[in-house]
Amino acid sequence: MNMIELKQVSRRYGAVQALAPLDFSVKQGEFVTLLGPSGSGKTTLLNLIAGMVRPSSGRIFVRGTDITDAPPNSRGLGMVFQNYALMPHMTVFDNIAFPLRVRKLPKDEIRRKVKDVLDLVRLPDIAQRKPKELSGGQQQRVSLARCIVYNPALILLDEPLGALDKKLREQMQFEIRRLHAELGITMLNVTHDQDEALSMSDRIVLMNDGRVEQIATPDELYRAPRTAFAASFIGTANLIAGTVHDNTGEHALVSTPLGMLRAAMPSQVARGAAVKLLVRPESVRMMATPANSDLTFDTAIADGRRHAGTLVDSITLGSVVRHHVRLPGDMQIVVQQQGSRRPATHARGAPVVIDWAPEDCQMILQD
Ligand SMILES: Nc1ncnc2c1ncn2[C@@H]1O[C@H](COP(=O)(O)OP(=O)(O)O)[C@@H](O)[C@H]1O
Ligand SMILES: [Mg+2]
Repeated sequence: MNMIELKQVSRRYGAVQALAPLDFSVKQGEFVTLLGPSGSGKTTLLNLIAGMVRPSSGRIFVRGTDITDAPPNSRGLGMVFQNYALMPHMTVFDNIAFPLRVRKLPKDEIRRKVKDVLDLVRLPDIAQRKPKELSGGQQQRVSLARCIVYNPALILLDEPLGALDKKLREQMQFEIRRLHAELGITMLNVTHDQDEALSMSDRIVLMNDGRVEQIATPDELYRAPRTAFAASFIGTANLIAGTVHDNTGEHALVSTPLGMLRAAMPSQVARGAAVKLLVRPESVRMMATPANSDLTFDTAIADGRRHAGTLVDSITLGSVVRHHVRLPGDMQIVVQQQGSRRPATHARGAPVVIDWAPEDCQMILQD
């Protein structure tokens, strides 16, 4: 069953189309992330679902019921923001008890529920503290606890980890995933951080300029991006512009500044179509140029299966090394290799040769 369903929902602010008409749904128990750059419409979409913003068009359903005109507090949704939004003069206990008191639960039950939820977010001993006596990470856990405590069907999270440092952010990502798995609550999360989206989500809604670029699993989004924007936003993308020259063989032949390249054949592409070719850095192999003339090497370069270039720079990133290789026509290709030690042959400025398998060269049909 769909927990949320949006049908042709849009929002306009004067001349600004914050959100173009969009169809989208979240299944019960799913963890879905809205991912995109600042200003792409993520918060607008979340606020439409929460009822803080009215749509310019379209209908919104929660568990099949049309709630487009329902006030926010009747929607049974919880919300967690980046700036915690805890009440500063109240203790942690009172902050978490607040939504239960509003619902007029008996005192004993409130005490038990607050204790249970503080155990659940792993903060058993801080009930009597004020928010300012807590670290950022602890405050964010309290915000989550306050949301979870009344057992909403759906939790909306708007960049909840944005203010935390990297290590704490990763820890909280793990905690939120754990809570999601333990409680089975449907979660819709907003972030501009691709790593967070990739590591937490069942599905990602990639947004750009008020439109949905692609809705897919993290794996699918990385392996089969549909647009050049999606390819570049997730991970690092080497994109080579070209024109389809031949679409009849096992591989497509694409005319590019690097010569005629072979690429995996998508289901339908016309001859003469302008496309981009995507090669991920980890799919590129880099070799030293042989000291003496080598027929195999020379032939491969002559027919466009290998490319001679110059090593511009190598950067070690923990367990991998990233090389930047300049090819003729001032094109730069990023190469990623396993292993933190740089081969001695790969000095800056060294001549190198790179190649990749045609299967790892993907055709992208849209910008
Ligand atoms: N209340 C508002 N009034 C006018 N424009 C707004 C308002 N809220 C958002 N916008 C505009 O809508 C677009 C999307 O904003 P938003 O949903 O906040 O993006 P995101 O959360 O992805 O950063 C932006 O161009 C923003 O300036
Ligand atoms: Mg936002």
